[in-house]
Amino acid sequence: MSVISGLGTVVATQDGPTPLEFDFVISELTARETIESGTFVQIEQKDELIIGVIQTLRRTNRYFSSTDMIHGSSLGMSVQSIYPSERWDYLIAKVKILGAYKNNMKFRSTKPVLPGSKVLYVKDKILRQFLGIDVDGLKIGKIRQSKIDANINIDRMLQKHLAILSISGGGKSYTTSVVIEEILRRHPSKGRPALVLFDVHGEYGGLKDIENSQYFKEIEIVKVDSENISMALGYMSVSDFSKIFPSMSNPQKRELSMIISSLKYKNEPMTVDSIISKIYETEMNPLVKEALLGWMNQLKSTYLFSNEEKPDLEKSLSPGKLLIIDLASITSLWKKRIILHYFLTRLFELRRNRIIPPVVSFIEEAHQFAPEVEASTTKSIIHTIAREGRKFLCSLVLISQRPVNLSTTALSQCNSHLILRILNPYDLNYIGKTSEGINQETLQMLTSLGVGEGLLVGEAVNYPVFIQIRQKLISAKYDDTSLAEEARRYEKQKINPV
Ligand SMILES: Nc1ncnc2c1ncn2[C@@H]1O[C@H](COP(=O)(O)OP(=O)(O)OP(=O)(O)O)[C@@H](O)[C@H]1O
Ligand SMILES: [Mg+2]
Repeated sequence: MSVISGLGTVVATQDGPTPLEFDFVISELTARETIESGTFVQIEQKDELIIGVIQTLRRTNRYFSSTDMIHGSSLGMSVQSIYPSERWDYLIAKVKILGAYKNNMKFRSTKPVLPGSKVLYVKDKILRQFLGIDVDGLKIGKIRQSKIDANINIDRMLQKHLAILSISGGGKSYTTSVVIEEILRRHPSKGRPALVLFDVHGEYGGLKDIENSQYFKEIEIVKVDSENISMALGYMSVSDFSKIFPSMSNPQKRELSMIISSLKYKNEPMTVDSIISKIYETEMNPLVKEALLGWMNQLKSTYLFSNEEKPDLEKSLSPGKLLIIDLASITSLWKKRIILHYFLTRLFELRRNRIIPPVVSFIEEAHQFAPEVEASTTKSIIHTIAREGRKFLCSLVLISQRPVNLSTTALSQCNSHLILRILNPYDLNYIGKTSEGINQETLQMLTSLGVGEGLLVGEAVNYPVFIQIRQKLISAKYDDTSLAEEARRYEKQKINPV
């Protein structure tokens, strides 16, 4: 009797094999227990190596497929006691073919595989090569259903922007911290960009501890709270003011532009007060004057502007340095958008003129800053960087729990998507449309992802891969505080106040 070796054998069904997919029967005992969808498999055929990924698994047993048999057994003896039913328990796997190798060259498979072919697990070395894993890449976790590290090439993942998407609590901020840790951990000889993180909810305070850790060398983390943020009016153009006040009319823009130019020309300090005084002094249509004074007083009430930039971007950004702009204490979305608009515009300008190192900006709650339908001060700069940032090495990482509300323009310019758990059918549908290479089966798998599991698609890897995101090297003290734990701590503090 010949014994089946390998994982299983390709079967001929009504639907295949085709050049795109095939089914195979998994008879191997251990594999029957351990194999999962997402596993990479290979078939050696003549001088070609066909590589595919298991999409679905179906279990079957001929002794349990007849209703008569089940009914009969319920009247008397069980099926197992009469027939060797266990021996007929096996799995049928549907495999999507990803590509083929011939003479070490990768190409698209054009012929169906032979029924009866032996199916094997893909060897690690080949899988690494096939997926485009880079030994010098960012080690964000492990490729699921394999033993290989998910070392993702930094250029491929970040240069053309990355989106990190999931439901709330799906692990976006955790994963973002892992990506940041990896960039900071890189050896300077491999190239480290500067990092800017817009921390909308103050979730990243714990990253500061990295500085004292043995894992990180020659790095710096600077956290700036909202009280210490100041935007320099001298760096702002009329176009920036009109983003903040979208209803500013053309005559208002003209007058403001002249006032700004005259203050700059005379080298006078640019403060909201100096602009206001200049508006008072200048002869202009009283309605225009009134409107400009109104806008400027609104700016003044934010206490966010002066003639100084804090943090000073030119001085604050260097390779291996993370600048956290903590916006947690600001409740007004309008103010948060003004801050993001200012700093992103400045970063892009500084990068265009090669004044700062290549920079990656992480934007939490990206759907609030580049919403799909609503107007927003920040939308146009995010779109500009999304479109042109690649050329100037000014990258974005957009983090969002509502992809469906995130601007399609911004999302489609993110060439890599790291998608963690998603449940909302609208979001799933949207992701299916905006992320290349995701089919219906993969999309469904997103709903059942566990903690720390994600799907990486797009430019970063040659084929969509499921990744188990690694644990953070440094976990913040408050990372995993539960509701009950915090309530207990609060009550104890009330009883024994310090
Ligand atoms: N890779 C991982 N390994 C271990 N635990 C993880 C991992 N990813 C996420 N978690 C756990 O899941 C929790 C929620 O993750 P996180 O705060 O990053 O979610 P989120 O998507 O940012 O949520 P929100 O949208 O509400 O900000 C974390 O506190 C952590 O305990
Ligand atoms: Mg978060």
